[in-house]
Amino acid sequence: MKNLFPGALAILSVAGFVGFLGVDVAAPVAAAPKAYTAAAPLDVIIEVRDSMFSDLAGLVNAGKMKFKKIRRQALFLAEVSNIISHADSKEWQAYEQKTRAELLNLAKATKAKNAKEVKSLWSKVHEGAKGKPSAKANRGKGTPSYKLVAPLDAIMYITEDLFYAIEEQVEGKEFDKITKHAYLLAEVSNIVRFANEEGGDAWKGYADRAATDFVALAKASAAKDAKQVKSLFAKVETSCDSCHEKFRD
Ligand code: HEC
Repeated sequence: MKNLFPGALAILSVAGFVGFLGVDVAAPVAAAPKAYTAAAPLDVIIEVRDSMFSDLAGLVNAGKMKFKKIRRQALFLAEVSNIISHADSKEWQAYEQKTRAELLNLAKATKAKNAKEVKSLWSKVHEGAKGKPSAKANRGKGTPSYKLVAPLDAIMYITEDLFYAIEEQVEGKEFDKITKHAYLLAEVSNIVRFANEEGGDAWKGYADRAATDFVALAKASAAKDAKQVKSLFAKVETSCDSCHEKFRD
Protein backbone atom coordinates (compact mmCIF):
# COMPACT_ATOMS: atom_id res chain seq x y z
CA MET A 1 0.00 0.00 0.00
CA LYS A 2 2.75 2.33 0.99
CA ASN A 3 4.50 1.86 -2.34
CA LEU A 4 1.45 2.53 -4.45
CA PHE A 5 1.03 6.05 -3.24
CA PRO A 6 4.10 7.66 -4.82
CA GLY A 7 3.24 5.82 -8.05
CA ALA A 8 -0.21 7.33 -8.10
CA LEU A 9 1.26 10.74 -7.39
CA ALA A 10 3.69 10.32 -10.28
CA ILE A 11 0.84 9.47 -12.65
CA LEU A 12 -1.10 12.47 -11.43
CA SER A 13 1.82 14.81 -11.92
CA VAL A 14 2.53 13.45 -15.41
CA ALA A 15 -1.10 14.09 -16.29
CA GLY A 16 -0.78 17.57 -14.82
CA PHE A 17 2.36 18.22 -16.80
CA VAL A 18 0.84 17.02 -20.07
CA GLY A 19 -2.20 19.17 -19.30
CA PHE A 20 0.12 22.09 -18.71
CA LEU A 21 1.63 21.58 -22.16
CA GLY A 22 -1.81 22.14 -23.59
CA VAL A 23 -2.39 18.53 -24.63
CA ASP A 24 -5.87 17.24 -23.99
CA VAL A 25 -5.34 14.35 -21.61
CA ALA A 26 -8.94 13.28 -21.45
CA ALA A 27 -10.79 15.45 -23.94
CA PRO A 28 -14.46 15.55 -22.98
CA VAL A 29 -16.85 14.54 -25.78
CA ALA A 30 -19.17 17.42 -24.97
CA ALA A 31 -17.86 20.97 -25.00
CA ALA A 32 -18.27 23.23 -22.01
CA PRO A 33 -20.01 26.56 -22.61
CA LYS A 34 -17.63 29.31 -23.51
CA ALA A 35 -17.60 32.97 -24.41
CA TYR A 36 -16.97 34.17 -27.94
CA THR A 37 -13.21 34.42 -28.22
CA ALA A 38 -11.35 34.68 -31.52
CA ALA A 39 -10.19 31.52 -33.27
CA ALA A 40 -8.21 33.27 -36.03
CA PRO A 41 -6.22 36.50 -36.46
CA LEU A 42 -8.53 39.39 -37.31
CA ASP A 43 -6.17 41.05 -39.80
CA VAL A 44 -6.20 37.88 -41.92
CA ILE A 45 -9.99 37.84 -41.87
CA ILE A 46 -10.10 41.48 -43.00
CA GLU A 47 -7.72 40.68 -45.85
CA VAL A 48 -9.79 37.73 -47.10
CA ARG A 49 -12.95 39.77 -46.76
CA ASP A 50 -11.50 42.39 -49.07
CA SER A 51 -10.78 39.75 -51.71
CA MET A 52 -14.33 38.40 -51.33
CA PHE A 53 -15.62 41.94 -51.94
CA SER A 54 -13.91 41.77 -55.32
CA ASP A 55 -15.71 38.50 -56.05
CA LEU A 56 -19.01 40.12 -55.13
CA ALA A 57 -18.23 43.10 -57.38
CA GLY A 58 -17.67 40.63 -60.21
CA LEU A 59 -21.06 39.02 -59.59
CA VAL A 60 -22.89 42.34 -59.42
CA ASN A 61 -21.26 43.65 -62.59
CA ALA A 62 -21.71 40.45 -64.61
CA GLY A 63 -23.93 40.68 -67.69
CA LYS A 64 -26.68 38.55 -66.21
CA MET A 65 -27.12 38.85 -62.45
CA LYS A 66 -27.19 35.62 -60.48
CA PHE A 67 -29.38 36.87 -57.66
CA LYS A 68 -29.21 33.75 -55.50
CA LYS A 69 -25.44 33.66 -55.63
CA ILE A 70 -25.18 37.38 -54.86
CA ARG A 71 -27.58 36.94 -51.97
CA ARG A 72 -25.54 34.15 -50.36
CA GLN A 73 -22.27 36.01 -50.83
CA ALA A 74 -23.77 39.23 -49.38
CA LEU A 75 -25.19 37.36 -46.37
CA PHE A 76 -21.91 35.55 -45.77
CA LEU A 77 -20.01 38.84 -45.97
CA ALA A 78 -22.53 40.48 -43.61
CA GLU A 79 -21.65 37.74 -41.14
CA VAL A 80 -17.94 38.37 -41.68
CA SER A 81 -18.59 42.07 -40.97
CA ASN A 82 -20.39 40.98 -37.84
CA ILE A 83 -17.28 39.01 -36.81
CA ILE A 84 -14.97 41.96 -37.48
CA SER A 85 -17.33 44.30 -35.59
CA HIS A 86 -16.19 42.43 -32.46
CA ALA A 87 -12.81 44.16 -32.81
CA ASP A 88 -11.64 46.14 -29.80
CA SER A 89 -11.44 49.46 -31.67
CA LYS A 90 -14.43 51.82 -31.80
CA GLU A 91 -13.60 52.81 -35.41
CA TRP A 92 -13.74 49.22 -36.57
CA GLN A 93 -16.92 48.54 -34.63
CA ALA A 94 -18.69 51.50 -36.22
CA TYR A 95 -17.35 50.79 -39.69
CA GLU A 96 -18.34 47.12 -39.66
CA GLN A 97 -21.78 47.78 -38.20
CA LYS A 98 -22.44 50.08 -41.13
CA THR A 99 -21.03 47.63 -43.69
CA ARG A 100 -23.02 44.79 -42.14
CA ALA A 101 -26.29 46.77 -42.44
CA GLU A 102 -25.55 47.67 -46.07
CA LEU A 103 -24.81 44.07 -46.98
CA LEU A 104 -28.02 42.88 -45.33
CA ASN A 105 -29.93 45.48 -47.38
CA LEU A 106 -28.21 44.27 -50.51
CA ALA A 107 -29.22 40.69 -49.72
CA LYS A 108 -32.81 41.82 -49.30
CA ALA A 109 -32.80 43.54 -52.70
CA THR A 110 -31.73 40.29 -54.40
CA LYS A 111 -34.98 38.70 -53.21
CA ALA A 112 -36.97 41.21 -55.25
CA LYS A 113 -34.58 40.53 -58.18
CA ASN A 114 -34.19 44.25 -58.64
CA ALA A 115 -30.92 44.58 -60.58
CA LYS A 116 -30.83 48.36 -60.43
CA GLU A 117 -31.34 48.40 -56.68
CA VAL A 118 -28.71 45.67 -56.20
CA LYS A 119 -26.19 47.71 -58.20
CA SER A 120 -26.97 50.87 -56.29
CA LEU A 121 -26.69 49.13 -52.91
CA TRP A 122 -23.44 47.48 -53.91
CA SER A 123 -21.97 50.84 -54.91
CA LYS A 124 -22.79 52.04 -51.38
CA VAL A 125 -20.78 49.18 -49.87
CA HIS A 126 -18.01 49.81 -52.37
CA GLU A 127 -17.90 53.56 -51.63
CA GLY A 128 -18.01 52.85 -47.91
CA ALA A 129 -14.95 50.63 -48.20
CA LYS A 130 -12.89 53.75 -48.86
CA GLY A 131 -13.56 54.83 -45.30
CA LYS A 132 -12.04 51.66 -43.85
CA PRO A 133 -10.16 52.43 -40.61
CA SER A 134 -6.40 52.47 -40.94
CA ALA A 135 -5.76 51.29 -37.38
CA LYS A 136 -4.99 47.62 -36.88
CA ALA A 137 -8.02 45.70 -35.66
CA ASN A 138 -7.47 43.43 -32.68
CA ARG A 139 -9.76 41.19 -30.74
CA GLY A 140 -10.09 42.19 -27.11
CA LYS A 141 -11.09 39.90 -24.31
CA GLY A 142 -14.04 38.49 -26.18
CA THR A 143 -17.76 38.77 -25.55
CA PRO A 144 -20.05 36.48 -23.54
CA SER A 145 -21.84 35.36 -26.68
CA TYR A 146 -22.28 35.97 -30.38
CA LYS A 147 -25.46 36.71 -32.28
CA LEU A 148 -25.52 35.71 -35.94
CA VAL A 149 -27.04 38.04 -38.56
CA ALA A 150 -27.09 35.66 -41.55
CA PRO A 151 -29.12 32.46 -41.95
CA LEU A 152 -27.10 29.29 -41.46
CA ASP A 153 -27.69 27.92 -44.97
CA ALA A 154 -26.11 30.99 -46.63
CA ILE A 155 -23.09 30.64 -44.36
CA MET A 156 -22.88 26.94 -45.17
CA TYR A 157 -23.06 27.34 -48.97
CA ILE A 158 -20.16 29.79 -49.07
CA THR A 159 -18.27 27.66 -46.54
CA GLU A 160 -18.67 24.77 -48.95
CA ASP A 161 -17.34 26.83 -51.89
CA LEU A 162 -14.28 27.98 -49.96
CA PHE A 163 -13.70 24.57 -48.43
CA TYR A 164 -13.79 22.48 -51.62
CA ALA A 165 -11.66 25.06 -53.45
CA ILE A 166 -8.84 23.95 -51.15
CA GLU A 167 -8.62 20.62 -53.00
CA GLU A 168 -7.57 22.37 -56.20
CA GLN A 169 -5.54 25.05 -54.45
CA VAL A 170 -3.35 22.43 -52.78
CA GLU A 171 -2.61 20.84 -56.17
CA GLY A 172 -1.66 24.31 -57.45
CA LYS A 173 0.46 24.94 -54.31
CA GLU A 174 -1.55 28.11 -53.54
CA PHE A 175 -0.62 27.90 -49.89
CA ASP A 176 -1.10 31.58 -49.09
CA LYS A 177 -4.69 31.47 -50.29
CA ILE A 178 -5.39 28.22 -48.43
CA THR A 179 -3.97 29.64 -45.20
CA LYS A 180 -6.15 32.74 -45.36
CA HIS A 181 -9.31 30.88 -46.32
CA ALA A 182 -8.74 28.27 -43.62
CA TYR A 183 -8.39 30.99 -40.99
CA LEU A 184 -11.61 32.58 -42.19
CA LEU A 185 -13.39 29.22 -42.07
CA ALA A 186 -11.99 28.61 -38.58
CA GLU A 187 -13.61 31.84 -37.42
CA VAL A 188 -16.84 31.06 -39.25
CA SER A 189 -17.00 27.63 -37.55
CA ASN A 190 -16.24 29.41 -34.31
CA ILE A 191 -19.41 31.53 -34.65
CA VAL A 192 -21.51 28.67 -36.06
CA ARG A 193 -21.11 27.34 -32.53
CA PHE A 194 -23.62 30.03 -31.48
CA ALA A 195 -26.09 29.30 -34.31
CA ASN A 196 -28.11 26.61 -32.59
CA GLU A 197 -28.80 27.04 -28.90
CA GLU A 198 -31.04 23.93 -28.80
CA GLY A 199 -28.19 21.88 -30.27
CA GLY A 200 -26.53 21.95 -26.87
CA ASP A 201 -23.04 20.64 -26.24
CA ALA A 202 -23.14 18.22 -29.19
CA TRP A 203 -23.62 21.09 -31.65
CA LYS A 204 -20.95 23.21 -29.98
CA GLY A 205 -18.59 20.24 -29.98
CA TYR A 206 -18.86 19.76 -33.77
CA ALA A 207 -18.41 23.48 -34.43
CA ASP A 208 -15.42 23.67 -32.07
CA ARG A 209 -13.82 20.66 -33.70
CA ALA A 210 -14.17 22.21 -37.15
CA ALA A 211 -12.70 25.49 -35.85
CA THR A 212 -9.72 23.75 -34.25
CA ASP A 213 -9.02 21.63 -37.34
CA PHE A 214 -9.28 24.66 -39.64
CA VAL A 215 -6.66 26.48 -37.53
CA ALA A 216 -4.40 23.41 -37.80
CA LEU A 217 -5.00 23.33 -41.55
CA ALA A 218 -4.11 27.04 -41.83
CA LYS A 219 -0.87 26.41 -39.95
CA ALA A 220 0.03 23.37 -42.07
CA SER A 221 -0.58 25.44 -45.18
CA ALA A 222 1.54 28.32 -43.85
CA ALA A 223 4.32 25.71 -43.48
CA LYS A 224 3.62 24.60 -47.09
CA ASP A 225 3.03 21.05 -45.90
CA ALA A 226 0.75 19.72 -48.65
CA LYS A 227 0.51 16.24 -47.15
CA GLN A 228 -0.66 17.58 -43.80
CA VAL A 229 -3.09 20.00 -45.49
CA LYS A 230 -4.69 17.06 -47.31
CA SER A 231 -4.91 15.00 -44.17
CA LEU A 232 -6.51 17.88 -42.23
CA PHE A 233 -8.87 18.55 -45.12
CA ALA A 234 -10.16 14.99 -44.74
CA LYS A 235 -10.43 15.48 -40.99
CA VAL A 236 -12.52 18.65 -41.37
CA GLU A 237 -14.74 16.92 -43.90
CA THR A 238 -15.52 14.33 -41.23
CA SER A 239 -16.63 17.15 -38.91
CA CYS A 240 -18.92 18.57 -41.61
CA ASP A 241 -20.41 15.14 -42.21
CA SER A 242 -20.85 14.21 -38.55
CA CYS A 243 -22.67 17.44 -37.79
CA HIS A 244 -24.88 17.04 -40.85
CA GLU A 245 -25.75 13.46 -39.91
CA LYS A 246 -26.83 14.55 -36.46
CA PHE A 247 -28.44 17.92 -37.14
CA ARG A 248 -29.37 18.24 -40.80
CA ASP A 249 -30.15 14.95 -42.48
C1 HEC B 1 -22.06 22.39 -36.22
C2 HEC B 1 -22.73 21.70 -37.26
C3 HEC B 1 -22.28 21.83 -38.69
C4 HEC B 1 -21.00 21.80 -39.17
C5 HEC B 1 -19.69 21.65 -38.40
C6 HEC B 1 -21.11 21.97 -40.59
N1 HEC B 1 -22.42 22.07 -40.98
FE1 HEC B 1 -23.10 22.36 -42.88
N2 HEC B 1 -25.01 22.45 -42.16
C7 HEC B 1 -25.41 22.28 -40.86
C8 HEC B 1 -26.87 22.42 -40.77
C9 HEC B 1 -27.70 22.30 -39.53
C10 HEC B 1 -27.32 22.68 -42.08
C11 HEC B 1 -28.76 22.95 -42.54
C12 HEC B 1 -28.98 24.45 -42.52
C13 HEC B 1 -30.29 24.90 -43.06
O1 HEC B 1 -30.79 24.31 -44.00
O2 HEC B 1 -30.79 25.92 -42.54
C14 HEC B 1 -26.13 22.69 -42.93
C15 HEC B 1 -26.18 22.93 -44.30
C16 HEC B 1 -25.09 22.87 -45.15
C17 HEC B 1 -25.16 23.13 -46.56
C18 HEC B 1 -26.43 23.57 -47.31
C19 HEC B 1 -26.97 22.60 -48.23
C20 HEC B 1 -27.62 21.45 -47.59
O3 HEC B 1 -27.29 20.35 -48.04
O4 HEC B 1 -28.45 21.63 -46.67
C21 HEC B 1 -23.89 22.96 -47.05
C22 HEC B 1 -23.45 23.11 -48.50
C23 HEC B 1 -23.02 22.64 -45.93
N3 HEC B 1 -23.78 22.60 -44.78
C24 HEC B 1 -21.66 22.45 -46.02
C25 HEC B 1 -20.82 22.26 -44.91
C26 HEC B 1 -19.38 22.06 -44.98
C27 HEC B 1 -18.58 22.00 -46.26
C28 HEC B 1 -18.92 21.95 -43.69
C29 HEC B 1 -17.53 21.73 -43.19
C30 HEC B 1 -16.50 22.58 -43.67
C31 HEC B 1 -20.09 22.07 -42.82
N4 HEC B 1 -21.20 22.24 -43.59
C32 HEC B 1 -20.01 22.00 -41.45
C33 HEC B 1 -24.58 22.03 -39.79
C34 HEC B 1 -23.18 21.98 -39.84
